Amino acid sequence: MKLFKVIATTMSLLLLGACQNTTPPQTTSQNRVKLGVLQLVEHPALDDIYKGIKDELQKQGIQATYDFYNAQGDQSNLMTMSEKVVSGKPDILVGITTPATLALRNQTTQIPIVMAGITYPVDAGLVDSESKPNGNVTGVSDRISIKKQLELMKQVLPNLKVVGVLYSLNEDNSVKQVEETKIAAQELGIELKLGGVVSQNDVQLTTETIAGQVDAIFVPIDNTIASAMSIVTQVTDSKQIAVFPSASTMVKDGGLMGYGIDQYEIGVKTAKMIISVLKGEKPENTPVQLMDDAKVYINLEKAKQLNITIPDNILKDAITQ
Ligand code: TRP
Repeated sequence: MKLFKVIATTMSLLLLGACQNTTPPQTTSQNRVKLGVLQLVEHPALDDIYKGIKDELQKQGIQATYDFYNAQGDQSNLMTMSEKVVSGKPDILVGITTPATLALRNQTTQIPIVMAGITYPVDAGLVDSESKPNGNVTGVSDRISIKKQLELMKQVLPNLKVVGVLYSLNEDNSVKQVEETKIAAQELGIELKLGGVVSQNDVQLTTETIAGQVDAIFVPIDNTIASAMSIVTQVTDSKQIAVFPSASTMVKDGGLMGYGIDQYEIGVKTAKMIISVLKGEKPENTPVQLMDDAKVYINLEKAKQLNITIPDNILKDAITQ
Protein backbone atom coordinates (compact mmCIF):
# COMPACT_ATOMS: atom_id res chain seq x y z
CA MET A 1 0.00 0.00 0.00
CA LYS A 2 2.76 2.36 1.08
CA LEU A 3 4.89 1.43 -1.93
CA PHE A 4 1.96 2.08 -4.21
CA LYS A 5 1.57 5.56 -2.70
CA VAL A 6 5.25 6.37 -3.25
CA ILE A 7 5.10 5.20 -6.85
CA ALA A 8 1.92 7.13 -7.48
CA THR A 9 3.36 10.31 -5.96
CA THR A 10 6.60 9.96 -7.90
CA MET A 11 4.71 9.40 -11.10
CA SER A 12 2.48 12.39 -10.63
CA LEU A 13 5.49 14.57 -9.82
CA LEU A 14 7.22 13.33 -12.94
CA LEU A 15 4.11 14.01 -14.93
CA LEU A 16 3.80 17.49 -13.49
CA GLY A 17 7.45 18.15 -14.36
CA ALA A 18 6.87 16.96 -17.90
CA CYS A 19 3.83 19.18 -18.20
CA GLN A 20 5.69 22.19 -16.93
CA ASN A 21 8.42 21.72 -19.51
CA THR A 22 6.23 21.19 -22.49
CA THR A 23 2.76 22.59 -21.96
CA PRO A 24 1.37 25.40 -19.86
CA PRO A 25 -0.12 24.42 -16.50
CA GLN A 26 -3.52 22.79 -16.63
CA THR A 27 -6.13 25.25 -15.46
CA THR A 28 -9.87 25.12 -15.88
CA SER A 29 -9.69 28.11 -18.23
CA GLN A 30 -7.73 25.93 -20.65
CA ASN A 31 -10.91 24.29 -21.83
CA ARG A 32 -12.51 27.63 -22.45
CA VAL A 33 -12.64 29.47 -25.71
CA LYS A 34 -10.70 32.71 -25.63
CA LEU A 35 -12.37 35.64 -27.34
CA GLY A 36 -10.60 38.91 -28.07
CA VAL A 37 -13.14 41.71 -28.38
CA LEU A 38 -12.53 45.28 -29.53
CA GLN A 39 -15.27 47.90 -29.32
CA LEU A 40 -14.82 51.44 -30.65
CA VAL A 41 -16.71 53.36 -28.03
CA GLU A 42 -19.37 53.05 -25.40
CA HIS A 43 -22.92 53.71 -26.46
CA PRO A 44 -26.11 51.80 -25.68
CA ALA A 45 -26.30 50.06 -29.09
CA LEU A 46 -22.81 48.60 -28.87
CA ASP A 47 -23.25 47.65 -25.24
CA ASP A 48 -26.45 45.77 -26.21
CA ILE A 49 -24.62 43.98 -29.03
CA TYR A 50 -21.85 42.83 -26.70
CA LYS A 51 -24.39 41.66 -24.14
CA GLY A 52 -26.26 39.72 -26.84
CA ILE A 53 -23.02 37.97 -27.82
CA LYS A 54 -22.15 36.96 -24.27
CA ASP A 55 -25.67 35.85 -23.35
CA GLU A 56 -26.09 33.74 -26.48
CA LEU A 57 -22.69 32.03 -26.16
CA GLN A 58 -23.52 31.16 -22.59
CA LYS A 59 -26.96 29.92 -23.61
CA GLN A 60 -25.36 27.67 -26.22
CA GLY A 61 -23.06 26.20 -23.57
CA ILE A 62 -19.85 27.82 -24.80
CA GLN A 63 -17.41 28.40 -21.96
CA ALA A 64 -15.65 31.60 -22.91
CA THR A 65 -13.16 34.04 -21.48
CA TYR A 66 -13.25 37.58 -22.79
CA ASP A 67 -10.30 39.81 -23.44
CA PHE A 68 -12.33 42.97 -23.92
CA TYR A 69 -11.10 46.43 -24.94
CA ASN A 70 -13.03 49.65 -25.43
CA ALA A 71 -11.14 52.33 -27.37
CA GLN A 72 -13.23 55.22 -26.00
CA GLY A 73 -13.68 56.55 -29.52
CA ASP A 74 -9.97 57.18 -29.96
CA GLN A 75 -8.13 56.10 -33.11
CA SER A 76 -4.75 55.72 -31.41
CA ASN A 77 -6.36 53.56 -28.72
CA LEU A 78 -7.72 51.37 -31.51
CA MET A 79 -4.20 50.80 -32.76
CA THR A 80 -2.61 49.96 -29.42
CA MET A 81 -5.56 47.91 -28.22
CA SER A 82 -5.87 45.88 -31.41
CA GLU A 83 -2.19 45.03 -31.12
CA LYS A 84 -2.63 44.02 -27.49
CA VAL A 85 -5.69 41.90 -28.05
CA VAL A 86 -4.08 40.03 -30.96
CA SER A 87 -0.85 39.43 -29.03
CA GLY A 88 -2.95 37.63 -26.40
CA LYS A 89 -3.50 34.92 -29.07
CA PRO A 90 -7.26 34.55 -28.78
CA ASP A 91 -9.03 31.70 -30.59
CA ILE A 92 -11.27 34.20 -32.29
CA LEU A 93 -11.57 37.98 -32.57
CA VAL A 94 -14.75 40.03 -32.47
CA GLY A 95 -14.92 43.55 -33.88
CA ILE A 96 -17.72 45.77 -32.63
CA THR A 97 -18.02 48.67 -35.14
CA THR A 98 -16.35 49.21 -38.49
CA PRO A 99 -13.28 51.12 -37.19
CA ALA A 100 -12.61 48.49 -34.51
CA THR A 101 -12.86 45.62 -36.99
CA LEU A 102 -10.54 47.43 -39.40
CA ALA A 103 -8.00 47.88 -36.61
CA LEU A 104 -8.14 44.14 -35.81
CA ARG A 105 -7.83 43.15 -39.45
CA ASN A 106 -4.73 45.35 -39.74
CA GLN A 107 -3.12 43.27 -36.98
CA THR A 108 -3.84 39.77 -38.26
CA THR A 109 -4.78 37.92 -41.39
CA GLN A 110 -4.61 34.58 -39.51
CA ILE A 111 -6.91 34.67 -36.50
CA PRO A 112 -10.57 34.55 -37.59
CA ILE A 113 -12.47 37.80 -37.02
CA VAL A 114 -16.24 37.92 -36.61
CA MET A 115 -17.70 41.38 -37.06
CA ALA A 116 -20.71 42.45 -35.05
CA GLY A 117 -23.08 44.85 -36.79
CA ILE A 118 -20.94 46.29 -39.55
CA THR A 119 -23.00 48.40 -41.94
CA TYR A 120 -21.04 48.21 -45.20
CA PRO A 121 -18.22 45.67 -44.82
CA VAL A 122 -17.38 45.63 -48.54
CA ASP A 123 -17.00 49.40 -48.81
CA ALA A 124 -14.91 49.47 -45.64
CA GLY A 125 -12.58 46.92 -47.28
CA LEU A 126 -13.23 44.24 -44.66
CA VAL A 127 -14.50 41.57 -47.06
CA ASP A 128 -14.25 41.10 -50.83
CA SER A 129 -17.96 40.44 -51.12
CA GLU A 130 -20.74 39.62 -48.70
CA SER A 131 -21.34 36.23 -50.31
CA LYS A 132 -17.63 35.30 -50.39
CA PRO A 133 -15.50 37.27 -47.91
CA ASN A 134 -12.17 35.64 -48.97
CA GLY A 135 -10.06 36.80 -46.01
CA ASN A 136 -10.18 36.05 -42.29
CA VAL A 137 -13.27 38.23 -41.68
CA THR A 138 -16.98 37.43 -41.73
CA GLY A 139 -19.93 38.37 -39.57
CA VAL A 140 -23.19 40.24 -39.31
CA SER A 141 -24.20 43.42 -41.11
CA ASP A 142 -26.83 45.82 -39.71
CA ARG A 143 -27.43 47.43 -43.10
CA ILE A 144 -31.03 48.54 -43.73
CA SER A 145 -32.74 50.34 -46.57
CA ILE A 146 -32.10 54.08 -46.37
CA LYS A 147 -34.93 54.73 -48.81
CA LYS A 148 -37.41 53.10 -46.42
CA GLN A 149 -36.14 55.34 -43.66
CA LEU A 150 -36.63 58.50 -45.71
CA GLU A 151 -40.07 57.29 -46.82
CA LEU A 152 -41.03 56.89 -43.19
CA MET A 153 -39.98 60.48 -42.52
CA LYS A 154 -42.18 61.66 -45.38
CA GLN A 155 -45.16 59.70 -44.10
CA VAL A 156 -44.89 61.30 -40.69
CA LEU A 157 -44.05 64.79 -41.94
CA PRO A 158 -45.99 65.20 -45.22
CA ASN A 159 -44.52 68.66 -45.84
CA LEU A 160 -40.97 67.44 -45.53
CA LYS A 161 -38.68 69.13 -48.06
CA VAL A 162 -35.24 69.62 -46.53
CA VAL A 163 -33.52 66.96 -44.40
CA GLY A 164 -30.33 67.44 -42.43
CA VAL A 165 -27.94 64.51 -42.13
CA LEU A 166 -25.72 64.28 -39.07
CA TYR A 167 -22.82 61.85 -39.40
CA SER A 168 -19.13 61.26 -38.88
CA LEU A 169 -16.71 61.93 -41.73
CA ASN A 170 -14.33 59.39 -40.17
CA GLU A 171 -16.57 56.34 -40.20
CA ASP A 172 -16.61 54.33 -43.44
CA ASN A 173 -20.03 52.98 -42.46
CA SER A 174 -21.47 56.51 -42.32
CA VAL A 175 -19.79 57.88 -45.41
CA LYS A 176 -21.28 55.05 -47.46
CA GLN A 177 -24.71 55.50 -45.85
CA VAL A 178 -24.63 59.17 -46.81
CA GLU A 179 -23.92 58.20 -50.43
CA GLU A 180 -27.00 55.97 -50.27
CA THR A 181 -28.98 58.78 -48.64
CA LYS A 182 -28.15 61.11 -51.53
CA ILE A 183 -29.50 58.59 -54.04
CA ALA A 184 -32.69 57.90 -52.07
CA ALA A 185 -33.30 61.62 -51.42
CA GLN A 186 -33.10 62.38 -55.10
CA GLU A 187 -35.62 59.64 -55.88
CA LEU A 188 -37.98 60.98 -53.23
CA GLY A 189 -37.57 64.68 -54.09
CA ILE A 190 -35.92 65.53 -50.78
CA GLU A 191 -33.21 68.17 -50.48
CA LEU A 192 -30.29 67.33 -48.15
CA LYS A 193 -28.09 69.46 -45.91
CA LEU A 194 -25.07 67.45 -44.87
CA GLY A 195 -23.63 67.89 -41.40
CA GLY A 196 -20.45 65.87 -41.28
CA VAL A 197 -18.45 65.96 -38.03
CA VAL A 198 -14.81 65.12 -37.48
CA SER A 199 -15.25 64.20 -33.84
CA GLN A 200 -17.71 64.47 -30.96
CA ASN A 201 -16.35 67.94 -30.32
CA ASP A 202 -18.13 69.40 -33.36
CA VAL A 203 -21.48 67.71 -32.80
CA GLN A 204 -23.03 70.66 -31.00
CA LEU A 205 -22.00 73.34 -33.47
CA THR A 206 -22.84 71.21 -36.51
CA THR A 207 -26.26 70.34 -35.10
CA GLU A 208 -26.95 74.02 -34.40
CA THR A 209 -26.00 75.00 -37.94
CA ILE A 210 -28.02 72.22 -39.57
CA ALA A 211 -31.09 72.55 -37.33
CA GLY A 212 -31.64 76.12 -38.49
CA GLN A 213 -31.90 75.09 -42.14
CA VAL A 214 -33.97 71.90 -42.23
CA ASP A 215 -37.44 70.43 -41.59
CA ALA A 216 -36.05 67.34 -39.81
CA ILE A 217 -32.78 65.52 -39.18
CA PHE A 218 -31.79 62.01 -40.26
CA VAL A 219 -29.02 60.18 -38.41
CA PRO A 220 -27.58 57.07 -40.07
CA ILE A 221 -26.02 54.17 -38.14
CA ASP A 222 -23.15 56.27 -36.84
CA ASN A 223 -21.09 55.66 -33.72
CA THR A 224 -19.99 59.24 -33.13
CA ILE A 225 -23.54 60.59 -33.18
CA ALA A 226 -24.87 57.59 -31.22
CA SER A 227 -22.50 58.48 -28.40
CA ALA A 228 -23.51 62.15 -28.55
CA MET A 229 -27.30 61.87 -28.73
CA SER A 230 -27.79 63.99 -25.63
CA ILE A 231 -25.87 66.86 -27.25
CA VAL A 232 -27.87 66.50 -30.48
CA THR A 233 -31.27 66.42 -28.83
CA GLN A 234 -30.51 69.31 -26.53
CA VAL A 235 -30.12 71.46 -29.63
CA THR A 236 -32.96 69.94 -31.65
CA ASP A 237 -35.42 70.05 -28.73
CA SER A 238 -34.81 73.74 -28.26
CA LYS A 239 -35.51 74.31 -31.96
CA GLN A 240 -38.41 71.80 -32.09
CA ILE A 241 -36.78 69.74 -34.81
CA ALA A 242 -37.47 66.00 -35.03
CA VAL A 243 -34.55 63.57 -35.23
CA PHE A 244 -35.01 60.27 -37.11
CA PRO A 245 -32.15 57.89 -36.24
CA SER A 246 -31.39 54.46 -37.70
CA ALA A 247 -31.12 52.51 -34.46
CA SER A 248 -33.59 51.66 -31.71
CA THR A 249 -31.21 52.86 -29.00
CA MET A 250 -30.89 56.32 -30.57
CA VAL A 251 -34.68 56.65 -30.59
CA LYS A 252 -34.70 55.86 -26.91
CA ASP A 253 -31.90 58.38 -26.39
CA GLY A 254 -34.05 61.26 -27.60
CA GLY A 255 -34.74 60.67 -31.28
CA LEU A 256 -38.36 60.83 -32.44
CA MET A 257 -38.55 57.62 -34.39
CA GLY A 258 -36.66 55.41 -36.78
CA TYR A 259 -36.68 52.28 -38.81
CA GLY A 260 -34.07 50.06 -37.23
CA ILE A 261 -32.86 46.80 -35.77
CA ASP A 262 -32.92 45.40 -32.26
CA GLN A 263 -29.26 45.77 -31.27
CA TYR A 264 -29.26 42.88 -28.81
CA GLU A 265 -30.38 40.58 -31.65
CA ILE A 266 -27.32 41.63 -33.67
CA GLY A 267 -25.25 40.23 -30.81
CA VAL A 268 -27.26 37.01 -30.73
CA LYS A 269 -26.74 36.47 -34.46
CA THR A 270 -23.05 37.31 -34.15
CA ALA A 271 -22.69 34.68 -31.39
CA LYS A 272 -24.18 32.07 -33.70
CA MET A 273 -21.58 32.92 -36.34
CA ILE A 274 -18.83 32.79 -33.71
CA ILE A 275 -19.95 29.26 -32.88
CA SER A 276 -19.87 28.11 -36.50
CA VAL A 277 -16.38 29.55 -36.97
CA LEU A 278 -15.24 27.84 -33.76
CA LYS A 279 -16.61 24.60 -35.18
CA GLY A 280 -14.33 25.01 -38.16
CA GLU A 281 -16.21 27.09 -40.74
CA LYS A 282 -13.69 29.26 -42.56
CA PRO A 283 -14.53 32.99 -42.62
CA GLU A 284 -13.34 33.17 -46.23
CA ASN A 285 -16.24 30.92 -47.29
CA THR A 286 -18.83 32.08 -44.77
CA PRO A 287 -21.22 34.68 -46.21
CA VAL A 288 -21.90 37.85 -44.23
CA GLN A 289 -25.37 37.67 -42.70
CA LEU A 290 -27.92 40.46 -42.74
CA MET A 291 -30.43 41.22 -40.02
CA ASP A 292 -33.84 40.75 -41.56
CA ASP A 293 -36.20 42.12 -38.97
CA ALA A 294 -36.09 45.90 -38.99
CA LYS A 295 -38.97 47.59 -37.17
CA VAL A 296 -40.26 51.07 -36.56
CA TYR A 297 -39.31 52.43 -33.13
CA ILE A 298 -41.13 55.44 -31.73
CA ASN A 299 -40.41 57.66 -28.77
CA LEU A 300 -43.96 58.66 -27.80
CA GLU A 301 -42.88 61.22 -25.26
CA LYS A 302 -40.81 62.98 -27.90
CA ALA A 303 -43.75 62.94 -30.33
CA LYS A 304 -45.85 64.65 -27.69
CA GLN A 305 -43.12 67.19 -26.95
CA LEU A 306 -42.73 68.02 -30.64
CA ASN A 307 -46.49 67.96 -31.19
CA ILE A 308 -46.23 65.38 -33.95
CA THR A 309 -49.08 62.96 -34.61
CA ILE A 310 -47.94 59.54 -35.73
CA PRO A 311 -50.29 58.05 -38.34
CA ASP A 312 -52.19 55.01 -37.01
CA ASN A 313 -50.97 52.67 -39.74
CA ILE A 314 -47.38 53.30 -38.59
CA LEU A 315 -48.19 53.23 -34.91
CA LYS A 316 -49.93 49.88 -35.04
CA ASP A 317 -46.81 47.86 -35.98
CA ALA A 318 -44.30 50.03 -34.17
CA ILE A 319 -42.38 49.42 -30.98
CA THR A 320 -43.03 52.33 -28.68
CA GLN A 321 -40.60 53.37 -25.99
N1 TRP B 1 -22.88 49.66 -37.79
C1 TRP B 1 -21.91 50.39 -37.03
C2 TRP B 1 -20.57 50.27 -37.71
O1 TRP B 1 -20.46 49.68 -38.75
C3 TRP B 1 -21.85 49.92 -35.59
C4 TRP B 1 -23.19 49.98 -34.93
C5 TRP B 1 -23.98 48.91 -34.65
C6 TRP B 1 -23.89 51.16 -34.54
N2 TRP B 1 -25.14 49.35 -34.08
C7 TRP B 1 -25.15 50.70 -34.02
C8 TRP B 1 -23.64 52.53 -34.61
C9 TRP B 1 -26.11 51.61 -33.56
C10 TRP B 1 -24.62 53.41 -34.14
C11 TRP B 1 -25.83 52.97 -33.61
O2 TRP B 1 -19.59 50.74 -37.20
